[in-house]
Amino acid sequence: MFRTHTCGELRISDVNKQVTLSGWVQRSRKMGGMTFVDLRDRYGITQLVFNEEVNADLCDRANKLGREFVIQTVGTVSERFSKNANMPTGDIEIIVSELNILNTALTPPFTIEDNTDGGDDIRMKYRYLDLRRAAVRANLELRHKMTIEVRTYLDKLGFIEVETPVLIGSTPEGARDFVVPSRMNPGQFYALPQSPQTLKQLLMVSGFDRYFQIAKCFRDEDLRADRQPEFTQIDCEMSFVEQEDVINTFEGMAKHLFKTLRGVEFTEAFPRMAWADAMKYYGSDKPDLRFGMKFVELMDILKGHGFSVFDNAAYIGGICAEGAASYTRKQLDALTEFVKKPQIGAKGLVYARVEADGTVKSSVDKFYTQEVLQQMKEAFGAKPGDLILILSGDDAMKTRKQLSELRLEMGSQLGLRDKNKFVCLWVVDFPMFEWSEEEGRLMAMHHPFTHPKDEDIPLLDTDPAAVRADAYDMVVNGVEVGGGSIRIHDAQLQAKMFEILGFTPEKAEAQFGFLMNAFKYGAPPHGGLAYGLDRWVSLFAGLDSIRDCIAFPKNNSGRDVMLDAPSVIDPKQLDELNLIVDVKEK
Ligand code: AMO
Repeated sequence: MFRTHTCGELRISDVNKQVTLSGWVQRSRKMGGMTFVDLRDRYGITQLVFNEEVNADLCDRANKLGREFVIQTVGTVSERFSKNANMPTGDIEIIVSELNILNTALTPPFTIEDNTDGGDDIRMKYRYLDLRRAAVRANLELRHKMTIEVRTYLDKLGFIEVETPVLIGSTPEGARDFVVPSRMNPGQFYALPQSPQTLKQLLMVSGFDRYFQIAKCFRDEDLRADRQPEFTQIDCEMSFVEQEDVINTFEGMAKHLFKTLRGVEFTEAFPRMAWADAMKYYGSDKPDLRFGMKFVELMDILKGHGFSVFDNAAYIGGICAEGAASYTRKQLDALTEFVKKPQIGAKGLVYARVEADGTVKSSVDKFYTQEVLQQMKEAFGAKPGDLILILSGDDAMKTRKQLSELRLEMGSQLGLRDKNKFVCLWVVDFPMFEWSEEEGRLMAMHHPFTHPKDEDIPLLDTDPAAVRADAYDMVVNGVEVGGGSIRIHDAQLQAKMFEILGFTPEKAEAQFGFLMNAFKYGAPPHGGLAYGLDRWVSLFAGLDSIRDCIAFPKNNSGRDVMLDAPSVIDPKQLDELNLIVDVKEK
């Protein structure tokens, strides 16, 4: 037996017990004739004590222990003289009588402590060492608990977990696919699923009226803090349901997770916001509602006063940052630089301060009378001490998105995005389609299987861009944690949808024939949703990136630096696959 106890569990009540512990040497300190070693395992850290006067040979061996050596010790639990209130085991220590070195270790490339000195790249390269750090380990533990709670909640409601294949066919809608060559079918490729979407719909046709799966999904898209090329969905589908049923079921799951994993109880129903309002008032389909700063449109008030930037704009709008009138010139210049960054793309920023006496002082004072500026102040309901920030542009949607970035930045600067406060929201009534400049056609905003709103079906023929969908996203603190829709279960309506999306009947048949055929054999009305597991865990753990809750994540270039993947493959493997690689210069 390598251990009788773990390094996290011994307390003052265990004093005098004879115990065996195994773990890694976190650090050791020699103080006079005494040597103290911090022994770490998954459960915590316990202090070991070696006394030169009691056993010189043993102490000598302890002095030779290096960081991260794997050892086994036998000893007696003793009350600690100088207690450490920061450690759960801080009241005790082990007076060691036996020491076995189970393995030596090279000095790790960074310190394995919460505040490590290791940069991102080095920690990713040695991720197995990074995972020894308590902070990272806690994220994986939370992830584990979350999957247990998800399964408990869904099992109680009669959902059944079904695995679907990972080698499937390519679906052109959505993000780019990752593809895998087939040896047995030369020149042909599987695709890895971007989600189990069509498969779960087929399961509905099969009669599995409540399905779920904790499913790996793969998308070849540009990476960000909340996006990984492979990530995990809590994927669900239900038959004989309407939007309201799906929303209620998964709002219930969200509340269950909040309660069991964060101790946060939501008694009210989550608010809902139409997509059009989210865009109008927050410039985003995932507004962070932990704070206000709702957009105010200023076209009527500020246009036509001789300020050509505003006079020529298609949109003028602003936000009011409460109490921020004290912003210095330097801070305002920095905000101007922020909105002018190429990723945001605004041309400039206009600001106005509400002074203590209520007058408004703006950066464009020479064009506006105090009366007009007061009208603007009223429109925001601004008070003395507030700062109004205004953007304009020739494309309303683009300008709103820029204003959204500014709003989030101000929220951060003013400390309004508290990670321990959670505000949940359903965004509903998404448009069915969005125009793609790149493709020069309408694309499905959610996916091509989404059901249009019944009342908008006539518009499919006359004004498809105006059609809204039975689609919904859940947003928590500005993060899209999930999304879904009611599906089309009628082969004819599905065929029409493909037609609007620019598919010829032949192309639709070639790519989605399996689904449309299945629908001819009695498809029930159905709908569902997928939550992003990585995003939920990050949110609960207060992480800045979903990478921190994934055991072996990829970096921003999609590389696994530890495995050095992707990589070129052996010519023999290429030969077996009947492939010749001829990489194009970009
Ligand atoms: P969607 O594409 O909205 O819907 O994805 C559902 C949820 O998955 C998470 N997510 C991601 N998480 C990490 N990295 C990524 N690259 C990534 N992409 C998506 C998000 C998102 O809300 N089949 C549909 C669901 C359905 O209609 O039932 C789908 O995949 O949290």
